[in-house]
Amino acid sequence: MQKKTFRFGNASVEYYFATGFSKLKEIANIKNAVIITDENIFQHHQKKFKGWNVIVLKAGEEYKVQATVDSVVEQLIEMEADRSTTLIGVGGGVITDITGYVASTYMRGIAFGFVPTSLLALVDASIGGKNGIDVGVYKNMVGIIRQPSFILHDLVFLNSLPGNEWRNGFAEIIKHAAIKDAAMFNELESNSVASYKKSKTKLCELIQRNALIKTKVVQQDEFEKGDRKLLNFGHTLGHALETQYELSHGEAISIGMTYASSISMKLLRFKDASRVSGLLDKYGLPTFAQFDKEKVMNVLKMDKKKKRNSINYVLLEKIGKGIIKEISFQQLEELL
Ligand SMILES: NC(=O)c1ccc[n+]([C@@H]2O[C@H](COP(=O)([O-])OP(=O)(O)OC[C@H]3O[C@@H](n4cnc5c(N)ncnc54)[C@H](O)[C@@H]3O)[C@@H](O)[C@H]2O)c1
Repeated sequence: MQKKTFRFGNASVEYYFATGFSKLKEIANIKNAVIITDENIFQHHQKKFKGWNVIVLKAGEEYKVQATVDSVVEQLIEMEADRSTTLIGVGGGVITDITGYVASTYMRGIAFGFVPTSLLALVDASIGGKNGIDVGVYKNMVGIIRQPSFILHDLVFLNSLPGNEWRNGFAEIIKHAAIKDAAMFNELESNSVASYKKSKTKLCELIQRNALIKTKVVQQDEFEKGDRKLLNFGHTLGHALETQYELSHGEAISIGMTYASSISMKLLRFKDASRVSGLLDKYGLPTFAQFDKEKVMNVLKMDKKKKRNSINYVLLEKIGKGIIKEISFQQLEELL
C-alpha cells in the first residue's frame, strides 16, 4: 500500500494511491464502519462490498439534498452507528459530499473516509474537505469544511464509468492545467480520452498529479481566503448554467471556462483563449453556448462568492496562471 500523509491545518489525511479496495479492511474496522454508495456503483461492483455494512442511495445530483441526508441518518440510527463508527463514501462527488456532510453532523461529527469512483471525484470532489448539499436551484448552498481521515484510489472502479463521466472528470483536469500547470496543459493537448484509457500508467499518473495539485492549493488555503478561489475557474458561470439548463457539471464548467478565457482575453490580454476552447473541444466538452443572459445573471447574483454589486471572477493571465479579479455585475453582463 502506497501511503502518503497530507496535513490540512490541524487535520491529517492519509492518501492511499493505487491501492486495491480489499485493503480497506486494513484501514477501517469492517464491523464498525458503514459504506455509503449509490446504486450504479453497487450494481457494478457488488462483490467488493461483501461483509461491509452498506447504505445504497439512488444515484444523481437530484439526490444531493437534505431528504437524502435525513434518510441516511435514520438508517445510521437503526444500524446503531455511534461516535466510534467510520463512514466511508464509495462513489462519485455526490456520494463523497453526502458522506462527508452526514459524518460531520451525525452525533456532532464522526470519522469518515472516501473511495472516489468517478474521475471527477478522484481528481477533485474527494479532496479538500468541502462537503455539502444543494437547496433548490442553489448548488452546495449548505455544507461544512471538514477533512476525511483517508482517501483510497482503486482505479478498477473506473472500468464501469460511463463515457460522459470521463468528460466531466477531464473538465476539472483541464481546469487544473489552465490555472496551475502549463506543462500538463501541453501534455493534455497531445493526448486524448482514448489514449489515457489505453495506458493505465499514464492515467494513474495524471490522476495523482491532479489530486496533488488540488491538495497543494487547499493545504495553502483551506478556508478559501486566497488561492483556493482559483479552483472556481469556470464555476461561477458554470454553476449558474447548471441550475438553469440540463447540463452535466463538466459541460457547465466547460462553457464557464470558455467564457472566462474570452473575458481574460478582453480584460487581461490573455492570448490563448482559443487553446483553452480547443482543448475542451478535444475532450468532447461544449464551449460557446446560447443562454438566457438575464436568467443566468439572476442566479449569479445569488452566488455564494458574490459581494454586494460585484463578484470575484477567476481569469487567466496565461496558461498555467489563474488570477482573481473583482468584476461588477454590470461589467460582467456587458462582457458576456
Ligand atoms: N466537495 C468538493 O470539493 C467538490 C468538488 C467538485 C465537485 N463536487 C460535487 O461532485 C458532484 C459531481 O461529482 P460526480 O460527477 O462524481 O457525480 P456523481 O456522484 O453523481 O457521479 C456521476 C455518475 O457516475 C456514476 N458513477 C460514479 N462512479 C462510477 C463507477 N465507477 N462506475 C459506474 N458508475 C459510476 C454515478 O452513479 C453517477 O450516476 C457534484 O455534486 C459536485 O457539486 C464537490
